[in-house]
Amino acid sequence: MADTPVLRADAIHKRYADNEVLKGISLTLARGETKVLIGPSGSGKSTFLRCLNHLTKPDRGTIELDGVEISDANIDRMRARIGFVFQDFNLFSHLSVLDNVSICPIRVKRQARDEAIRRAREELERVGLGDKADAYPAELSGGQQQRVSIARALAMDPTLMLFDEPTSALDPELTGEVVKVMQRLADDGMTMLVVSHEMGFARQAADEIVFMEGGHIVEQGPPETLFSQPAQDRTRAFLNVIAEHG
Ligand SMILES: Nc1ncnc2c1ncn2[C@@H]1O[C@H](COP(=O)(O)OP(=O)(O)OP(=O)(O)O)[C@@H](O)[C@H]1O
Ligand SMILES: [Mg+2]
Repeated sequence: MADTPVLRADAIHKRYADNEVLKGISLTLARGETKVLIGPSGSGKSTFLRCLNHLTKPDRGTIELDGVEISDANIDRMRARIGFVFQDFNLFSHLSVLDNVSICPIRVKRQARDEAIRRAREELERVGLGDKADAYPAELSGGQQQRVSIARALAMDPTLMLFDEPTSALDPELTGEVVKVMQRLADDGMTMLVVSHEMGFARQAADEIVFMEGGHIVEQGPPETLFSQPAQDRTRAFLNVIAEHG
């Protein structure tokens, strides 16, 4: 149905021993929406993202993708529909760029090899790396490697894309090329949840900013409101910190 959210996370709880990391996080993403998740180190951003595709299993709460609840029974199928881009790229070092991008469609989706290769080349073009298909990850810059990992996620035709600090391992001059690719994806109507403190990207691409602290969502709203007139003092204090330290 047109108005079923792509993602609905409801009251997600996660604890490690006596550390209650997620204290009931609820978040929805409509089709084509981009939300940027910000918050101090240790606030639970990565844990929340990992819970969404059960890389970490939540203790409580439900997650629906296109109206279907994610469970142990369907997790493999659901996970194949969620693209995940990590801070440290996670490419297979022994595979060429083309093989990195085509391996999941071939192995997981059982796509014909020719078709998967054709699609992989297309996705590499889309991230500006059409000429790097035969290179190995070690021969690429960090920004190029991150764009390969975005192409790899896109080749699976994801319903939803999750990004966990995709530019924080990159030098500033390489950050821009990755941000540009994410910006274009958002403009093209991809549904995205992005943990990032790249404020330029957040302002331009995000429909909403979600500020998390101590396992709670403190505040969320459109960037123009949240950045200039945060309702909560804690949001304001955090924004001052990232404004100073980038
Ligand atoms: N596998 C784990 N085992 C035990 N504790 C964990 C585990 N993963 C995360 N934690 C704890 O959960 C809390 C939240 O961590 P998380 O990585 O989600 O924070 P974050 O907001 O992503 O921080 P950062 O901005 O530094 O990436 C931290 O206190 C962390 O130590
Ligand atoms: Mg993190």
